Order: sequence, then C-alpha cells, then structure tokens
Amino acid sequence: MIDRRRLMQATLAAGIFSGTALRAACAETSRLVFNADDFTELKKTITTAKGERVVTYRFYKAIPYVSEPIDVAYQSLNISVPVSIDGKRVDSSGSPILFSNSVGGYMPSSVADATGIGGAPMRGLPPTGMQAPPQGVAPTGIGGEVQSGGNAMIAGGKRVSNAELALAAGLTVVEPGARGRTLTDAAGTYYGVAPAAIVDLKAAVKYVRFNKGRIPGDTDRIVSSGTSAGGALSALLGASGDSPLFAPYLEAIGAADASDAIFAVGSWCPIADLEHADMAYEWNWGANPLSTGNTVDQNLSAQLKNGFATYQSSLKLKGLGGFGPLTSANYSDYLLKTYLQPAATQYLAKLSSEDRAAYLTRNPHIRWKANQARFGWTDFLSHVGARKKGLPAFDAFDLSSGENNLFGRDKTKARHFTAFSQTHDTGKTAIDADIPALLDLMNPMFFIGKPNVSTAQHWWIRVGTKDSDTSLSIVGNLAAALSANKRKVNSAMYWDGGHGANEDADAFVKWVSRLNKDTRMRG
Ligand code: DHB
Repeated sequence: MIDRRRLMQATLAAGIFSGTALRAACAETSRLVFNADDFTELKKTITTAKGERVVTYRFYKAIPYVSEPIDVAYQSLNISVPVSIDGKRVDSSGSPILFSNSVGGYMPSSVADATGIGGAPMRGLPPTGMQAPPQGVAPTGIGGEVQSGGNAMIAGGKRVSNAELALAAGLTVVEPGARGRTLTDAAGTYYGVAPAAIVDLKAAVKYVRFNKGRIPGDTDRIVSSGTSAGGALSALLGASGDSPLFAPYLEAIGAADASDAIFAVGSWCPIADLEHADMAYEWNWGANPLSTGNTVDQNLSAQLKNGFATYQSSLKLKGLGGFGPLTSANYSDYLLKTYLQPAATQYLAKLSSEDRAAYLTRNPHIRWKANQARFGWTDFLSHVGARKKGLPAFDAFDLSSGENNLFGRDKTKARHFTAFSQTHDTGKTAIDADIPALLDLMNPMFFIGKPNVSTAQHWWIRVGTKDSDTSLSIVGNLAAALSANKRKVNSAMYWDGGHGANEDADAFVKWVSRLNKDTRMRG
C-alpha cells in the first residue's frame, strides 16, 4: 500500500516532486483535506434532560471521505460543530468527537441530503422494512424502527438523538453515510454487501483522524454510536481498530492514511455475531410463540439450541460481577441476575407507588420485595410474549432475510451463511468458500482479544428486555468478552424496552464528555 502522506512529506522535505504516481497520490490526499471554511451556520433547539438548548452550529455537508468513491452519495459524511449554546460560545476542539452512524437493517445510509444534524433521510429502504416477516407472521413494522438507525432511537415512545444531544453538550458530531446491502449498479451487481458498510465507516474514521487539527475535536477520542445493525457496526468499528484484514478494501476506495482505531463505543441492540445468531435466538426465544400464536418447529429449534450450547462453551467466557464460566445452562440465571432483575428493579423503583402497584397487578409473575424485582426465566419469557422472528431468525431457509442479502455477492442477491440453513435448503453441507472470512470481517466477537487490532477502551452497551430482534446473549457475550479483555464496559438493559430503545441518552452523552485524556488508549 502506498503510504501517501508519508511519501508526500518525505518528498516535499527532500525537495523532489516528480512522477505521475506521486502527483496522483498527492492530489488524492489533498482531496481529503477538510476545508474548515465551507460550512453553513445553523441553529437548532434541542431538548435535553436539563431543558431546551438553543445551539448555533457550523454544518459541513456531504463531504466525500474517500478519494475513489464507489458511490459518493453514501461515502460522504456531515460534520456539525457547535459554536454557541444558549448564546454562550463553546469550543469543541479539545473534546471527544461523536461519530454517529445511522445504519439500520444493514441498509444503505446516506447523509448527503440532510439539511442539518440528524434526520438524514435513509435511502433505499423498502416500505415494509428490512426483512420479509417470518412465515406466518404479520409484518411488525420493523421498517419504522430500522429507519431510525442511530439518528432516531426511541425513549418512552419519543424520538431521541445521540447526535443532537452531543451537539447540545458542546461536542463535534460526525455523521457518516455508508453503503448498504441493497445497492446494485446498472449491471445488477451488489456493491453494498458485506463488508462494504464497515469498510466505509472505517474510511470515515480515517478521514476524521487524517484531519486532526482541522476538524475541531480530539481525534484520539472518537466515540462511535449506532443502533441495531448500526449498533453492530459501531461495536465492530470499536473492536477491529486498524485490523490489517481491511487494508485491501480500504485501499481500493482511497481511504485516508490514518488510524481507524476509536476510543469508545456506544452500541444499542447490536444485531451482531450473525453466524451464531440463529442458535442464540432459539436458546433465548425458542419456546416463545410467534405473533400468530404458533410456535416454531420445536425439533429444529432444539437442534439450533444445542448448537448454542457448544458455541457458548467454546467462548470460555466468564460472567461479569464474578459470575463464573458462562454456559447455555446457566446463561438464563446470569441474565436474570446481571441485567434483567436489576433493569426491572430500576424501572419499578422510579414509578410512583400507585403506578408500581398497578404494574405489579398487571404482571403478577413479577414480585417486588425489599425494593427489588424478582422473577424467574420462564416468567420473563412469557412476559416478553411473541418472538419477532421466525426460524431460523437470520439465515432464512428461503434466503429472504436481510442478512441473507448482506452476504450476497456479485449479482447474487442473497446467500446462506450457516451450514445449518445451507443444508436444510440445498442439501449441500458447505457454505460458499468466501463466506467464513466475510463473517469474521462483520463480527466484533472475532476481533476482541486478537493481537493485531486496537480495540476501543470504553464501551456503553444497551438493549431493551423486550427486544426479540436478536438473542439477549449477543449483548451478554459482547460485554463479557470485552471485560475479559480489560475493556471498561458499562452494559445494561432497559426494562420493557423494545427494539431501538435508548432510554438514557443524556447519561450516555455525559459519559462521553467525561471520557477524558487520563483514560485515553495507549498504543
Ligand atoms: C435490524 C433489525 C433486525 O431485526 C435485523 O435482523 C437486522 C437489523 C435493524 O433494526 O437495524
């Protein structure tokens, strides 16, 4: 790989400046220099936990972040820099930078048409959402939630935006677009399938770090935020910093010559660990009915669930809080103790005594004693009710899921990515030879603990307890793996929160603002 910046610097220092390749490299690199003067000044009133803030900010729109884009509508980013808050001048140049993706459903996400921070319209989203509903299941309106991505998560039924709250806290906010799975060119070739979205997000991080000192903010403290597919990509970005496995992809699009390691991650309901997600789903929600009232094929469900037991043991993870080795047999206890009961306790403690009494009457399996919520695993499962997805939840036998499309290639829209579904559908035992490497590139779990990557130091991980878009063990394992690798993990669940819930966004932004230089990652 040509180290464009160093080559240029050395050449300039030596007073030599010749050769077509070198001129081209310099021209490409200079295209990636951030122009601090090219902005529109905008004003926005943002509702925070402490009331409304009127924020004046510089809006830098649709900046291409690679020099050889495949589709610049997606491979560009917006930057919002706060100038004043309630009339008081602010300077974000010494603060962390929020890097907020708006990916939902592994779909394409473009910020090119946005008229200000947040609210970038997502292109290419089919009206019914990311995924055909599982057989026999009515559409669940996933579309609205998917569309939300990192820009519009849900808190108490209201839209909440980490990006806007960060701006109102005086931070620079970068909003990258990224290619997504449905994009096809004129010849019908899929150009946004795996690993395009993570390659683009990495390229966008590289752009920001390459422009250290030009973009206001501490480029050594980039904090990523995203929800669902965007939450998985946020976690992947944090897990896989500077992994050499992405180098050829990044070079192909002319990514800036800078690190793509980030400082911290916010990840809401990550749809991650896709190759194990069907097994994990049956372990978690296998007995829950579909919204039709029917249960899925319990024989197939049990087969997948058995796979989860083997997988979980192979991880050799220990639970947080000194829980000991995590297995499929004790995982429900682990979730109850570590996440579910504390989440219910926190939720119920905040209610007035009348509201709490009413809630407990409606939910008799939840007991409230000594200011603590207590319940068992089967109680919890029945409390959640219908599972959102059919079987298998991700690698659909008929190739109809969004994830099948994510692993498409060339002109093939969708492929299997697990041996289980491949065998069931085609009788062939093996998945395509290129798939395992792609699964690795898309899986944060693959990178955690690997020697040649820079994994973010700080993690904020959240999921709603009623979110059956994936297994709750996905969050449980992500948090446990990071903690085993000495990362600082703040993980919690929102009681009764559905898909896309973000109920402590203000606390997240406070957490980001307080991640200071003393805890900065080294090496
Ligand atoms: C999203 C939701 C899903 O159920 C899924 O399988 C992938 C992505 C999303 O909301 O981004």
